[in-house]
Amino acid sequence: MISSAQQQLTPITIITGGSEGIGKALALEFAQGGFDLLLLARNQHRLETTASEISATHDVKVLTFKCDLTTQDSGRKIVTFLELNQHYCQHLINNAGTGLAGTFAKQDEGEIQQLVDLNMRALTDLSRHFLPDMLERGNGGILNIASMAGLLPGPYQAAYYASKAYVISLTKALSWEVWGTGVQISVLVPGPVKTKFHARMRARSELYIKFGAGISTQRAARMGYSGFRCGKCLIIPGILSQLGAVALKIIPHVLLMPFMAWFLKARIPHKPKSGDRF
Ligand SMILES: NC(=O)c1ccc[n+]([C@@H]2O[C@H](COP(=O)([O-])OP(=O)(O)OC[C@H]3O[C@@H](n4cnc5c(N)ncnc54)[C@H](OP(=O)(O)O)[C@@H]3O)[C@@H](O)[C@H]2O)c1
Repeated sequence: MISSAQQQLTPITIITGGSEGIGKALALEFAQGGFDLLLLARNQHRLETTASEISATHDVKVLTFKCDLTTQDSGRKIVTFLELNQHYCQHLINNAGTGLAGTFAKQDEGEIQQLVDLNMRALTDLSRHFLPDMLERGNGGILNIASMAGLLPGPYQAAYYASKAYVISLTKALSWEVWGTGVQISVLVPGPVKTKFHARMRARSELYIKFGAGISTQRAARMGYSGFRCGKCLIIPGILSQLGAVALKIIPHVLLMPFMAWFLKARIPHKPKSGDRF
């Protein structure tokens, strides 16, 4: 039963990492669909620029909240912000994610922990927090952003590939659990997308960077949004990625591993940790 206090709240779509890249493109799709937005990211300036761009072209409310999702108390802060602004989470778009290139044994331990916290812990905590209310209301849903990387092991990006496998597995299982409740849970599984993501993980000399063209953020987001709204659980944008996903089911991983290692290995060794995000 929804209490009268809960009935006063108005719905909002939360997009983690909504300030740029795929998250920004998804924000534009949800705005186009008429949904009010709450965009989350660490850089306040980029958040505000994106919010102004969306508000200028769409008749929706766009709120921003600066937060680092790798910190343990970020979930509580988001919930407090929602309560103060009299909103409830109608859609949760778990988009923020980070990658890490290089040999696992030589990677910075803190950076691995941040990847685990952002790609898996924050996504899990936010989903666990907002899902019960969605189920009680019998509508809304969660769209997780995974990657084709989650469909196989990735030597030289081991933790990133493993984190996306977790996201795909979790989403498929939850989608089964909520079947028939009116709540939708989907996962978007893109191949390469043209954003600054790969440069940020300091992948520059790898063959996949040289040969992987990548689709636009708009295309990935449009397919993610329409698949989610149509009730699809697994959304793979683009015919090439769809064919790739079929091939990955047929070809044994033991045969794929040498190819993936060749494709993902840096030709020039990675420099140790740098502060190139800002
Ligand atoms: N690009 C690709 O080729 C590709 C392919 C498949 C899947 N994906 C997945 O798609 C998602 C989005 O990727 P993208 O390419 O759009 O990345 P991006 O361009 O690097 O954007 C990442 C977004 O996440 C935010 N973010 C990063 N760390 C954060 C943190 N600790 N707390 C809160 N927000 C944080 C960033 O803003 P701030 O830096 O201001 O925090 C930014 O808004 C990721 O999950 C990625 O794994 C990407």
